[in-house]
Amino acid sequence: MFVPNCFKAIQWNKFFVAVLIVSCSYQTSFSQSELIGAGKQIDPYHYTIPKDATFQHASVACAHPLASMIGAAVMQKGGNAFDAAIATQLALAVVFPEAGNIGGGGFMVARTAKGQTLALDYREMAPEKASRNMYLDKDGNPNMHLSQDGHLASGVPGSVAGIFAMYKYAKLPFEQLITPAIILADKGFVISEKEAHLLNATRADFIKYNTKPNAFVKPTPWKAGDTLVQKDLAKTLMRISQFGAKGFYEGETAKLIVAEMQRGKGIISLEDLKQYKAIDRTPLSFQFNEYTIVGMPPPSSGGIIVEQLMKMIANRPLFSYGFESAKMVQLMVEAERRAFADRAAYMGDPDFWKVPVKTLTSNAYLAQRMANYDSTKPTPSSMIKEGQIPEHDETTHISIMDAEGNMVSITTTLNGWYGSRTVVGGAGFFLNNEMDDFSVKPGVPNMFGAVGGEANAIQPRKRMLSSMAPTLVLKNNQPFMVCGTPGGTTIPTSVFQTLVDVLIFNMSAEQAIAAPKFHHQWLPDVIFVEPNFPKNTIQQLEAMGYKIQQRGPIGRTEIIKVLTNGNKETAADIRGDDAVAGY
Ligand code: GLY
Repeated sequence: MFVPNCFKAIQWNKFFVAVLIVSCSYQTSFSQSELIGAGKQIDPYHYTIPKDATFQHASVACAHPLASMIGAAVMQKGGNAFDAAIATQLALAVVFPEAGNIGGGGFMVARTAKGQTLALDYREMAPEKASRNMYLDKDGNPNMHLSQDGHLASGVPGSVAGIFAMYKYAKLPFEQLITPAIILADKGFVISEKEAHLLNATRADFIKYNTKPNAFVKPTPWKAGDTLVQKDLAKTLMRISQFGAKGFYEGETAKLIVAEMQRGKGIISLEDLKQYKAIDRTPLSFQFNEYTIVGMPPPSSGGIIVEQLMKMIANRPLFSYGFESAKMVQLMVEAERRAFADRAAYMGDPDFWKVPVKTLTSNAYLAQRMANYDSTKPTPSSMIKEGQIPEHDETTHISIMDAEGNMVSITTTLNGWYGSRTVVGGAGFFLNNEMDDFSVKPGVPNMFGAVGGEANAIQPRKRMLSSMAPTLVLKNNQPFMVCGTPGGTTIPTSVFQTLVDVLIFNMSAEQAIAAPKFHHQWLPDVIFVEPNFPKNTIQQLEAMGYKIQQRGPIGRTEIIKVLTNGNKETAADIRGDDAVAGY
């Protein structure tokens, strides 16, 4: 457990008062400041990282304990799960700068207490000046460096528009939801060992891809217990608090983004920012035994893939195969191979490309896809160009349930850790490198090794295909589980495993998170496994002809599961600083 202890304890309320005094340029009233306390102290200089707990009323699981605590405090103080989702996302933009963001985008799948299901798309968008071959050199060869690093890699951010689109379901004044993030940015918070390590590991990029000094580079290496202060970010958050979405997409912040673009040969314009809109989509929903699984439609591939995978294994007795037996893993891998082949060919932004969602998720089509499944050997993937999957677990997931019955599942991202690694000069936040999620050239793998084609080709104002899969599960039409994870292309396969673990193997949230993960994505034709994956299963799969590659941790799953007494079993992933909070 991480307990930074090198700073003097400051009670949150006292801390808040101190901020009130120094924040004289910020005119909005902080009169509801005790919100943050909510009966508990939230101390940004001393905190622990609770991994799992059962809460009676409401809970949050996300990538950072301060953000989870803020989300839970908001609900304890009268807010609902949407209030908590907003406050948690804004807090993550400060305390988890590698993936929490206002310079990226995401998706929310939610269900209101009244039973309305929602799918909100606030994915980044290609700027108007983007073009199909913008990352190809004169010989037509892709330059993936341009789609992944620095200014040209960024899509138009969607997160702030998303936050204001979800605000219509919230209850509290917006100012109360953003104030904790402003304070954390303005006064700083203590960083963990993992954060220090990642900041140090990315230092050279922070220098290379920035045109102005920023909060993330200091003369000496970061260490656990250091305080990260983000004054420019605090000012940007204050503008958002004062002017709403216009505080980001217009005015000073927009000008700072465009000035940054011009210094670094990026192409996002004032008009791109002004035009950006979050979009309400129709959630995907399907039945699996007594469970209804609700997921994100395109422009994410996540919901379709999860639905395909669950339907492809639906009529097979996985439980009798044994947990993570070769028989179980082989079946799941063969389903994954087929779903990812479909992803590459058929999926893209539905506003630009007709995605055959109905067909791809129909039982008849999926039965036909599994017709050549052989339980004794691999079905070889057609070899296009083998990509390597680097160990990226970027992106971040938030699971929330409140006492009223609202369920919120949000996955949000900058794409890579710290996105493009470019901080908007004077505005203090990282921009995404989401343009790499487009298919830069047919058959050429992106940073997650995913290939694509025409459906996901670059076009101005198009949204790049995602794998994010924020998911809800109802049991007999009542709230049962909220789950999701970061991890690029491993997202839908990790969600698939979580569903199998909980719905078929009856695991607790904690057990499902701890279970070793595996992943197959058609190309490269390899099963990736976590280091603690059962050796016996690996040997049996190798004997059948599968190529297995061990890699680092897969995903960071956050689960809230409702127990029969209504309590919320809440678990945060053990692979990071992820933490739970609730009451
Ligand atoms: N950037 C990762 C994803 O959207 O799938």
